Amino acid sequence: MRRRRLGRSSLEVPVVVFGAWAAGGWAWGGVDEDEVVRAMQASIDAGADAIDTAPVYGFGLSERLVGRAIRGRRDQVVVMTKLGLRWDDEHGALWFETTDQDGVARAVRRDARPESALHEVRRSLARLGVERIDLLQVHWPDAATPIEDTIGALLELRRSGEVREIGLSNHGPDLMRRAQATLGDAPLASNQPKYSLLAREIEAELLPWCRDEDVGVLAYSPLEQGLLSGCAPASRKFDKSDGRHRRPTFEDANRAKVNSVVESTLRPIAEARGATCAQVALAWVVAQPGVTAAIAGARSVAQARENAQAGDLELTPTESARLRAAFGALELGAAARGGWWSRLRRWLRSV
Ligand SMILES: NC(=O)c1ccc[n+]([C@@H]2O[C@H](COP(=O)([O-])OP(=O)(O)OC[C@H]3O[C@@H](n4cnc5c(N)ncnc54)[C@H](OP(=O)(O)O)[C@@H]3O)[C@@H](O)[C@H]2O)c1
Repeated sequence: MRRRRLGRSSLEVPVVVFGAWAAGGWAWGGVDEDEVVRAMQASIDAGADAIDTAPVYGFGLSERLVGRAIRGRRDQVVVMTKLGLRWDDEHGALWFETTDQDGVARAVRRDARPESALHEVRRSLARLGVERIDLLQVHWPDAATPIEDTIGALLELRRSGEVREIGLSNHGPDLMRRAQATLGDAPLASNQPKYSLLAREIEAELLPWCRDEDVGVLAYSPLEQGLLSGCAPASRKFDKSDGRHRRPTFEDANRAKVNSVVESTLRPIAEARGATCAQVALAWVVAQPGVTAAIAGARSVAQARENAQAGDLELTPTESARLRAAFGALELGAAARGGWWSRLRRWLRSV
């Protein structure tokens, strides 16, 4: 497993990180808890020994399962979690309403106030069963709280030793700059944006900015929620408890187009390299300048092992370029084209 320093921080991370959103079951049609714990342990054993989670993933469940997976081996794992999305308090602007993995209605609010951050971190430490979080990330910007206030609280936690390094997620360059100014001598370790062969918007501004400023980039949804692994043929149906049933990339017409490029370009490269489609899609993300690691979600031991092995696969420049050209030529419509970054920029301008 190749490893890289995360920006200017003290953390060294594997190029494939285990993503534990689906491990919480919510928005992913549920989860087999014992299997996902085994999957995390298999990932650690295979060298992908960093896990990214968040309080809101399964409304505490994902963090508790990470805690189970790392019990007795905490020192072997880089533990990354987040703050700023609350479902257990009335403060903060309502962001969305949903139903959790047990069918309970939940209202999720953005809240990155200092007092909320301190409360959340104590809860995360307890659920994870650890004394320190290695990387604490602000999950989404909170328009009602200046980022300076949030970062000030995180600095206190860094001084007290409860947090080792501080990062952001879904933030643009302006907020990153303000966060770094507040951090002073402490490094802004990383940002966590969406990035894959199908979602390349960050290449225009965010990725170069992070590269120039030596801020780590942890790319999320690198498999486009499984689509790039070839695991979503037209016949696979996603029910309402699985968020993919309404994702633009998973609409029938888009899925057919993506799958055709998976078959015409991705799979032949994978077969020639003795790899799988998922491994090649992950290796492509990891090979892009400025990317530190890909955070790959998995719910089974087999997927976790396969994804970890992608950390040793290095594509040739020709293979990378062929993939870039083939997926770049796909016409999917703005909503499916990683519209994440355009929406986020519009939202940031409006606050
Ligand atoms: N900061 C943020 O706002 C944010 C947002 C999204 C994600 N993330 C982070 O990024 C992580 C990854 O993103 P993601 O979970 O959205 O998407 P992803 O990693 O692109 O896709 C994960 C899904 O792909 C399928 N899969 C994984 N490995 C596979 C393999 N080897 N072969 C076949 N299928 C495979 C699985 O689907 P099935 O379970 O259906 O098999 C899995 O649940 C998350 O877990 C989370 O830690 C962060």
